[in-house]
Amino acid sequence: MLTVKNLTKSFTDASGVVTALKDVSLTVKTGEFASIIGKSGSGKSTLLSMLGALDIPTSGSIEVDGVDIAKLSASQQTAYRAKKIGFVFQYYNLIPNLTALENVTLALEFGGMPASKRKARAEQLLDSVGLTAKEQLRKPSRLSGGQQQRVSIARALANQPAIVLADEPTGNLDSETGKKIFDLLHKLSRSENTTILAVTHDMDIAGKTDRTFKLKDGKIVA
Ligand SMILES: Nc1ncnc2c1ncn2[C@@H]1O[C@H](COP(=O)(O)OP(=O)(O)O)[C@@H](O)[C@H]1O
Ligand SMILES: [Mg+2]
Repeated sequence: MLTVKNLTKSFTDASGVVTALKDVSLTVKTGEFASIIGKSGSGKSTLLSMLGALDIPTSGSIEVDGVDIAKLSASQQTAYRAKKIGFVFQYYNLIPNLTALENVTLALEFGGMPASKRKARAEQLLDSVGLTAKEQLRKPSRLSGGQQQRVSIARALANQPAIVLADEPTGNLDSETGKKIFDLLHKLSRSENTTILAVTHDMDIAGKTDRTFKLKDGKIVA
């Protein structure tokens, strides 16, 4: 269970204070697939980075399975990210000179899996996102955008995170491929009982998730 209460995040820069999130409260149940929609600048990425402990809230609380992650020390936050969170980004963020398989085994290495077990687990993960054995041995530049995003999903799931945070995972894909990627995330949230929060601009896609949060000027409006 993920419970956000009265979350506010302000940034101070040369032009003054920008409040990116204003008193946001929401709850997502374990295993739920939630989408976040809203115009550019409405606070979607800021919300995901708070949930992923990539940045610290100005005020409010974020409870994940009863622990307030806003109150963790820096090293506890690092451990939380490594153990509990999987990230999926718009531009995949794969390591270009590693194959698909190596990108996933590297994540398993960071997660502490013994070397002898990594290859089989990486192959199983890449099988589950629909990459053939041949494709698994290709570097990202030799895979399509949709295939690269499948690899990044396999990587995000590598260490069995409780929560997957996906920031516009289909923003760089055609709408057909984007729908397939969301179907895949949906299937995985069911089979792994993983909570997923995904930002999207596609209302068709958002409509198929368990729940949709709409942000406007840093506030939840629906
Ligand atoms: N690091 C930062 N420093 C200053 N302002 C920021 C920073 N990150 C985000 N913002 C501002 O916060 C608001 C929300 O941004 P963001 O969460 O990226 O929106 P979205 O992902 O919905 O497009 C914007 O006005 C943006 O300019
Ligand atoms: Mg954004």
